Amino acid sequence: MIVSPSLLSANFIDLKSDIDMINRSDAQWLHLDVMDGVFVPNISFGFPVLKAVAKHCEKKLDVHLMIVEPWKFINEVKNLGAYMMNVHYEACPHLHRTIQQIHDAGMKAGVTLNPHTPVSVLEEIIQDVDMVLLMTVNPGYGGQKFIEHSIEKVKRLRKLISDTGSHALIEVDGGVNGETAPRLAAAGVDVLVAGSYVFGNDNPEKVIKELRGE
Ligand code: DX5
Ligand code: ZN
Repeated sequence: MIVSPSLLSANFIDLKSDIDMINRSDAQWLHLDVMDGVFVPNISFGFPVLKAVAKHCEKKLDVHLMIVEPWKFINEVKNLGAYMMNVHYEACPHLHRTIQQIHDAGMKAGVTLNPHTPVSVLEEIIQDVDMVLLMTVNPGYGGQKFIEHSIEKVKRLRKLISDTGSHALIEVDGGVNGETAPRLAAAGVDVLVAGSYVFGNDNPEKVIKELRGE
């Protein structure tokens, strides 16, 4: 399992210590949530902060843009040295073009679905993306309760990926903890994002190890 701890739940007054912890840990990626107060009802952090984080972080950067018109920031994300750029299906009327532009910029491209958006909308794009990020809570806040029917949604996505021969990874984001993680793994998830479960624990490195499940 790939584990991508979400910086949203880190201690913002001492980000350096939390990123040192991530660097020491078994996490393979670091998940970075950008919010604009328009696409989602909250604002997180922006590129000046992420630039400092990126400089210090040794893990692959998994950037999740919860913003309108995300294609306008492809260069900014690229300049962070990001590995994966995730854009919301709901924010991209020309998703195919946006995916192409992310690839042209040298990054992996992920498409994110809100909880109400069915997996079937991906039929015509699943071959072109490197990852599908399923929101398992409504985006905007950490620490929310896992939406239970997401397990069935993961299974439907797993089937779409194998039916089409797509190479896309499945990532889930929201409400991941010691109870939901094994069930998500069994349903076919490749990447777990976890914010409050990791950073809210006294021993985050141990939690990351558990989530990896190896
Ligand atoms: C929510 C963000 C998540 C958030 C998850 O909109 O996309 O990445 O940090 O937080 P937890 O793991 O606490 O549900
Ligand atoms: Zn996220």
